[in-house]
Amino acid sequence: MTNPTSYKTALVTGASRGIGAAICRHLGQLGIQVHAVARSADSLKAICAETGATPHVADITDTAAMEKLMGELDIDVLVNNAGAIVGLGPIETLSASDIDQMLDINLRAPLQLCRIALAGMVKRQRGHIINIGSTAGNYIFPGTSAYAAAKAGITAANRVLRYDLAGSNVRVTEISPGRVETGIYRQALNNDDSKVDALYKDMRSVHPDDIARSVVTALTMRDGVDISFMEVVPTDQAPGGHRYPSQTQQTS
Ligand SMILES: NC(=O)c1ccc[n+]([C@@H]2O[C@H](COP(=O)([O-])OP(=O)(O)OC[C@H]3O[C@@H](n4cnc5c(N)ncnc54)[C@H](OP(=O)(O)O)[C@@H]3O)[C@@H](O)[C@H]2O)c1
Repeated sequence: MTNPTSYKTALVTGASRGIGAAICRHLGQLGIQVHAVARSADSLKAICAETGATPHVADITDTAAMEKLMGELDIDVLVNNAGAIVGLGPIETLSASDIDQMLDINLRAPLQLCRIALAGMVKRQRGHIINIGSTAGNYIFPGTSAYAAAKAGITAANRVLRYDLAGSNVRVTEISPGRVETGIYRQALNNDDSKVDALYKDMRSVHPDDIARSVVTALTMRDGVDISFMEVVPTDQAPGGHRYPSQTQQTS
């Protein structure tokens, strides 16, 4: 297919499975040369063999390593997709490391990657940052305080990035998925298949391909048009409601 965008290269983080792997497939089909990043060498290489992407085994929280890698590439599109839910539950039940990891992977690293990628994009007056947020950043999902705070930070950063980049011709998009059928909850649910399966059993979820198609939609808008924010949720999922203390807990 003739590449319908002005972008030649993309760097996609979290490319070894789930949404990132689907994004690699779709960007490859678009004719964009994809640099795919993740820590799991075997699955990353398998995705790259299938999609034609170039594998880079790296941890996005290692800023120096990412600076070295990205310094050697001219990146037109940065897809900050890697993310993790390391622990689930009220914050006092999480470990200190759970909280640090969720802030590092879901917020600190994507901001560092924006910084690194934007230097070249602004100089070339061409580029597109796509940050994958989450509905957890906007609505209440119990037990996700650290993850939600990180994702809300992505939304805040995206708004300011668009403001700071106005006039640079660099586009910025946040795609905010609701529940997507991937393995993201697996670690927090101690790899318990029945608990993971239960998340997707009683409702139709979004599929990784749906999010990848949203990325393609944002990238293929004509020059001068941004999709700044896109929420992609299952038809069967709607947020809302309140939780009140029981009568016995109320003081008056
Ligand atoms: N699934 C959902 O319901 C859902 C909903 C809303 C938003 N999202 C967001 O969508 C994005 C993709 O999630 P997913 O559902 O596809 O999850 P997933 O299947 O668990 O995949 C996560 C990806 O991130 C990579 N990753 C995690 N930590 C990394 C690190 N330190 N360095 C490099 N790569 C790292 C993983 O690769 P390695 O382990 O190989 O490094 C993997 O490729 C995330 O930002 C997530 O927050 C997902």
